[in-house]
Amino acid sequence: APIDPMSVTFQPATGGMNPSGPVLSRRMSDLEGLFADTAAWQEARDGADPVVYEVASSPVPEAPGELPQSITTIHPGTVGGEFHMTKGHQHPNPQGEIYFGLSGTGGLLLFDGTTPKWIPMAPGVIGYIPPGWAHRSVNTGDEPYRFLAVYPGDAGHDYGWVLEHGMGWRVRRGAAEPQLVPFRSE
Ligand code: F6R
Ligand code: ZN
Repeated sequence: APIDPMSVTFQPATGGMNPSGPVLSRRMSDLEGLFADTAAWQEARDGADPVVYEVASSPVPEAPGELPQSITTIHPGTVGGEFHMTKGHQHPNPQGEIYFGLSGTGGLLLFDGTTPKWIPMAPGVIGYIPPGWAHRSVNTGDEPYRFLAVYPGDAGHDYGWVLEHGMGWRVRRGAAEPQLVPFRSE
């Protein structure tokens, strides 16, 4: 059933929402197969197994016609030189999605199966994901990178697509700027 008109208050200190729906936490152990340097990933998993990112959802349901929102916080860090990132997914029912940078520095990596694109993200930047583009977020800074996502409630989430096709590029720490390297170079 559709829900009533409502507002959600963003908690800048934590990236939480009030009222809130489910809050997801992705630890290193949840991210098998993501990072190119498997040995470095195993070391982090077997050590502190840190939380890499968290996703707070508004109470708006993932249902046709609704526009659910979520706030993602990616904690800073690298695994074998590769920046902390989200798993990344494709929407099986292809529709657009909007990201809005809230704090920290990061980027939006998009891939349509042929051509990768990189959108630098910072507070106040709107990143647009057109229908059919897989997307992954990366924290390229030294503080938490946080953004709001707004997406159609019947878009769905396919995580297998990225495991199969990759994302075109990997994003590594460089001397000054993040380095975009071909996905399958290692
Ligand atoms: C929703 C969306 C974001 C991500 C979130 C976590 O369509 O794109 O809310 O779900 O940033 O990333 P994933 O879902 O790839 O683990
Ligand atoms: Zn999405």
